[in-house]
Amino acid sequence: MPRKPKPKAPGANTSIEAMIRVDHAGEYGAVRIYEGQLAVLKGRAAASTIRHMVEQEQRHLKTFDRLINERRVRPTALEPVWRIAGFALGAATALMGERVAFACTAAVEEAIDEHYAGQIEALGEGEPDFKKTVEDFRADEAAHRQTALDNGAESAPGYRLLSSAIKAGCRVAIKLSEKI
Ligand SMILES: [Fe+2]
Ligand SMILES: [Fe+2]
Repeated sequence: MPRKPKPKAPGANTSIEAMIRVDHAGEYGAVRIYEGQLAVLKGRAAASTIRHMVEQEQRHLKTFDRLINERRVRPTALEPVWRIAGFALGAATALMGERVAFACTAAVEEAIDEHYAGQIEALGEGEPDFKKTVEDFRADEAAHRQTALDNGAESAPGYRLLSSAIKAGCRVAIKLSEKI
């Protein structure tokens, strides 16, 4: 059977600097989303689950903080935007209920998982240490997504619409943070 030409990985033309910049921005956004959720859901059953995820995101962010410094990468200029937008997305979805908060988590983590998969493919044999970091973090993001699904994400009202809107927003945020 003839093999279909492989579609280009999403990050195929992306420099390592742009990869670090967007990953740093993404992990920061993730921290802010979970902080927004926790601000609303503290004391509720979901809080300890979310706290565990935010701790992992903080660890991811710390690693990219270090890489930004070591490689002298310019951080995204959009940090103030992600600071507010991330928190607002987390808080707004949490205000609609725990299942909606988890629906948001599932969508965001799916977008990040896709993004990291694209980077892993684009890296090929290059930058093995960086690639290993991305692979490790990708596994954490996949676990976060699974946690969200296990907590009823898909039974949130309006799940499909919400999920595609959030994923689309994440993809735009990723594109912007690579460049700006
Ligand atoms: Fe992360
Ligand atoms: Fe995550």
